[in-house]
Amino acid sequence: MKTTIKESKNYLNQEVTIGGWLHNKRSSGKIAFLQLRDGTGFMQGVVVKEEVSEDTFQLAKNITQESSLFVTGEITEDTRSDLGYEMQVKSIEVIDEAHDYPITPKNHGTEFLMDHRHLWLRSKKQHAVMKIRNEIIRATYEFFNDNGFTKIDPPILTASAPEGTSELFHTKYFDEDAFLSQSGQLYMEAAAMAHGKVFSFGPTFRAEKSKTRRHLIEFWMIEPEMAFYNHADSLEVQEQYVTHLVQSVLKNCKIELKTLERDTEKLAKVATPFPRITYDDAVTFLKEEGFDDIEWGEDFGAPHETAIANHYDLPVFITNYPTKIKPFYMQPNPDNEDTVLCADLIAPEGYGEVIGGSERINDLALMEQRINEHELDAESYSYYLDLRKYGSVPHSGFGLGLERAVAWISGVEHVRETSPFPRLLNRLYP
Ligand code: 4AD
Ligand code: MG
Repeated sequence: MKTTIKESKNYLNQEVTIGGWLHNKRSSGKIAFLQLRDGTGFMQGVVVKEEVSEDTFQLAKNITQESSLFVTGEITEDTRSDLGYEMQVKSIEVIDEAHDYPITPKNHGTEFLMDHRHLWLRSKKQHAVMKIRNEIIRATYEFFNDNGFTKIDPPILTASAPEGTSELFHTKYFDEDAFLSQSGQLYMEAAAMAHGKVFSFGPTFRAEKSKTRRHLIEFWMIEPEMAFYNHADSLEVQEQYVTHLVQSVLKNCKIELKTLERDTEKLAKVATPFPRITYDDAVTFLKEEGFDDIEWGEDFGAPHETAIANHYDLPVFITNYPTKIKPFYMQPNPDNEDTVLCADLIAPEGYGEVIGGSERINDLALMEQRINEHELDAESYSYYLDLRKYGSVPHSGFGLGLERAVAWISGVEHVRETSPFPRLLNRLYP
């Protein structure tokens, strides 16, 4: 029976064949332990000299790392491994022998591993991170489909800039200028006026010269937009969504979390409602904590966000930032016109902002005024203004950065390990 490592659990005490690769091995005179991987998981294959042909035992002892194989044997229980079973190998067929695989079990530096990202993806830890990423993607579709959202795909080539003009990737669009999308939000607002509740999930680009553990040049964003939802309604959707992501990973990625040695107790605490702190209170808090460098009106940096996050066990919403440090489209706070109805969701454990969101201005005159104040080209926002001309409604939305969410939930230090082929400040290869 041909099957996979993951499905082998259904073949206890039966003989199966698995197509895979040799991840690692150790052997003595009488026994060889093969660490096999096949994409669905990692499993130990035990080759006992006395129970196989001499050729098979010699082969087992000599197979090189990352050679591709068909391995046949009986699946038996193994209570010591995370998987719960292993294979008593009977025969091995080499498909392709690999020589001098560059990533050996010894430690390699990050730059070396990033240069070999196409191979590094095969390692146990990287495999676990991608499986968690996949679970977060699956759970995202599940959450929004189950809650009445329609997926709408905004364009990637655009003529205007939603999040400020300094971080745009410029390209030619025949005779016109175009930019790679830094957010699909403005199009999602149009979609919300057609479908009520919508979400997008796609690549976004920021020509940001940031070289931090939180920044990628190309990242994937989930952007829900909801007609008739005010700021408070949107925060509720956000905390439910994020809780769903965490619970799905806890439930469906147990082996991967173990591989990554993730402290799951911290994740298990994530439940609604999340705490909320206003920007004003956050500034006061930071000053009390000894941050002399922050003044009202300035944006928070990573150390500030981490200090605020460390004060809570849960992700925390920082709400109502000053108008002047946020994009043009945010609805003014009726209680303080110097601030807007927005929130950043800060993940625990120093992972920083995972969501940015707000209520959107729905008044035409105010939107026109903001576009002017921000010196944006009114003509390229004409479609956006139409949404305020024809049946404007209060609406809100947010964007979750996939890689930041994956980094936090899987507990990896740097977002570069959460993207299969990360685009970084100095890296476009592989
Ligand atoms: O806060 P941002 O810039 O918000 C927007 O783009 C809004 N238009 C979203 C919306 O309301 N529809 O980005 C949203 C999220 C951030 O919270 C962060 O998680 C992620 O996108 N993000 C990045 N992730 C990795 N690398 C970068 N350079 C990122 N910039 C933002
Ligand atoms: Mg933001």
